[in-house]
Amino acid sequence: MHKITLINGDGIGPEISESVMKIIKASGLTVEWDIQTAGADVIEKEGTPLPQRVLDSIRRNKVALKAPVTTPIGKGFRSVNVQLRKDLDLYANLRPCKNLPGVNTRFDNVDLIVVRENTEDLYAGIEEQIDSDTAHSIKIITRKASERICRFAFEYAVKNNRHEVCCVTKANIMKLSDGLFLESFRVVAKDYPNISPREILVDNLCMQLVQDPSRFDVLVLPNLYGDIVSDLTAGLIGGLGVAQGANIGLDCAVFEPVHGSAPDIKGQNKANPTALLMSAIEMLKYIGENFYAEKIEKALFKTLADGNKTADIGGKLSTTEFTDVVINNL
Ligand code: NAI
Repeated sequence: MHKITLINGDGIGPEISESVMKIIKASGLTVEWDIQTAGADVIEKEGTPLPQRVLDSIRRNKVALKAPVTTPIGKGFRSVNVQLRKDLDLYANLRPCKNLPGVNTRFDNVDLIVVRENTEDLYAGIEEQIDSDTAHSIKIITRKASERICRFAFEYAVKNNRHEVCCVTKANIMKLSDGLFLESFRVVAKDYPNISPREILVDNLCMQLVQDPSRFDVLVLPNLYGDIVSDLTAGLIGGLGVAQGANIGLDCAVFEPVHGSAPDIKGQNKANPTALLMSAIEMLKYIGENFYAEKIEKALFKTLADGNKTADIGGKLSTTEFTDVVINNL
């Protein structure tokens, strides 16, 4: 039996976590969930939004499934998500983006892998108020982190039969920081003669992605561009409700959807659990439970292909109704 940490999050987090736990249980796989709360709701009792017990649990179990956690905008505590990735050194944020059956979008040939650096860049959280009218945010790019993420992208390409890795920067403007990322990419690319290296500026990438996403294969990006571009690519396959993700480090991995806590639909039984479920399917593959991963994936794809969908992708089902159909299809 597997023991897996579950951070059930806030906003729509608890609803979609409940759905995914139910589906996994119905698949026949026994998982002991080590449920850990984090975020605004625990601050009052524990003095921090990310208590040590959460990190200890993930270190112990080596793998976690995480629902979204709200971060106050423009003020308040630092993002639990950013802190978690940093504390556990989950340096690679892997966001595969592929059309799903039954989810009609502008393009039907999307099959992209977004590899986002997860530990530095403007997310290092180094900011200072110079005076009341001026603020600085410092962008940190290191050779170590850049080479590590580029190597991850090339290794992924080799293992998954991909042909090209494209490095995305704005190195024409940020010649030193993005320049270092690009230089690291070029060094690493030399070790992978069978994978074509490609370079593009992030603005041009965005334009081309919305024109024809089939022009790209694996993308590797510094943290901020990776965050933004992966929401764009989520939009290409039906939106945030279906976009999966994973944060991978050397010692442990945390699987979580691209989307946030969706406070606008919290508690309304409207949230689409697909993104969290797809993240959980990847997690099951990661721990070697391919049989159950494929079983659940088949049931999910049949559900969507039959037109059983939540409202965000054009359907009428509630979270719980959708969950029940997936379970029936198992
Ligand atoms: P969001 O992703 O929560 O929502 C954007 C839009 O997509 C909303 O209209 C929402 O209803 C919809 N949406 C998202 N997920 C959905 C789902 N599963 N089913 C149906 N509709 C869905 O982004 P927003 O509003 O910018 O952020 C809300 C909060 O989430 C913020 O505090 C942000 O910091 C946090 N956040 C947390 C993340 C995490 O825990 N990894 C990632 C991104 C944002």
